[in-house]
Amino acid sequence: MIGKKIVVLATGGTIAGAASTAHGNLGYTAAQIGIDELLAGVPALQGVERVTEQVSQIDSKDMSFGVWRTLALRCAHWLARPDVAGLVVTHGTDTAEETAFFLQHVLAPAKPVVIACAMRPATALSPDGPQNLVDALAVAASDGARGVVLVCAGVIHSALDVSKQHTFRVDPFVSGDAGPVGYVEEGQLRLAREWPVSAVLAIPQALAEDGAWPRVEIVMSHAGAEGRWVRALVKEGIDGLVVAATGNGMMHRDLEAALLEAQSRGVIVVRATRCTQGRVIGLPGDTLPVAASASPAKARIALMLELMGAPG
Ligand code: SIN
Repeated sequence: MIGKKIVVLATGGTIAGAASTAHGNLGYTAAQIGIDELLAGVPALQGVERVTEQVSQIDSKDMSFGVWRTLALRCAHWLARPDVAGLVVTHGTDTAEETAFFLQHVLAPAKPVVIACAMRPATALSPDGPQNLVDALAVAASDGARGVVLVCAGVIHSALDVSKQHTFRVDPFVSGDAGPVGYVEEGQLRLAREWPVSAVLAIPQALAEDGAWPRVEIVMSHAGAEGRWVRALVKEGIDGLVVAATGNGMMHRDLEAALLEAQSRGVIVVRATRCTQGRVIGLPGDTLPVAASASPAKARIALMLELMGAPG
């Protein structure tokens, strides 16, 4: 790792959180500390030059298409520079898997883009952010690293597979059946499988301004699911619908009837699943196509990008 320039783009999150009484005595508020102050407490890695940029300062539950667009354009800008070896993006854990998936499908980078996050605020008795940042920088500066990954608690997850599965633990992420890309141990990488590779669904320059993105919503199949909410969304002028189906893409017959009706009116309808492991496998005679990701939130991103990136 000799003479590598890594750009750290900050978006907010608990990693930049500070104690506050906003949520009770033991509470904190996310996105309070700027990236330069955060990195001041993180030891420099030998041979790694750090450049910083504050892209936003938000709790990731409030992630917007505007921030995504700016972030994608800034990532594209830095990745195009030959002197930049990789990027680290600091982010809240709540929607980190969505931003990771989004960035992978607008950049498909040949260099590493590493999401760094934390479950405890920077002012906690024992914050996890500094170690996660050191690990993320080590991954971003590693020879051969590429694609968008999320590094948390010493585990490297692919943007395509990662999901947050725990509300409080300091290792809340899993990669399902695919398993992690690898691990960071004492600054050394131990790879378990290939780096993420995917198609670009829409280039950053093709992303619409906030407020002009395709309107795609998620509806869930469950006991007693009804079709009227789908009909209301169609009346609203929705462009696409992702159904968070049960099991292998199954849904309540009343919901299915409304979704087929929506499809016949030109709304793009795709099937993801409520299951957090496995994938949806299309069967002969399917009337609703399988989504690009089994995760409803990620399937929604893929569909919005496809609608924006489609020629003409
Ligand atoms: C956030 O997602 O911004 C807050 C929660 C977290 O980072 O863990």
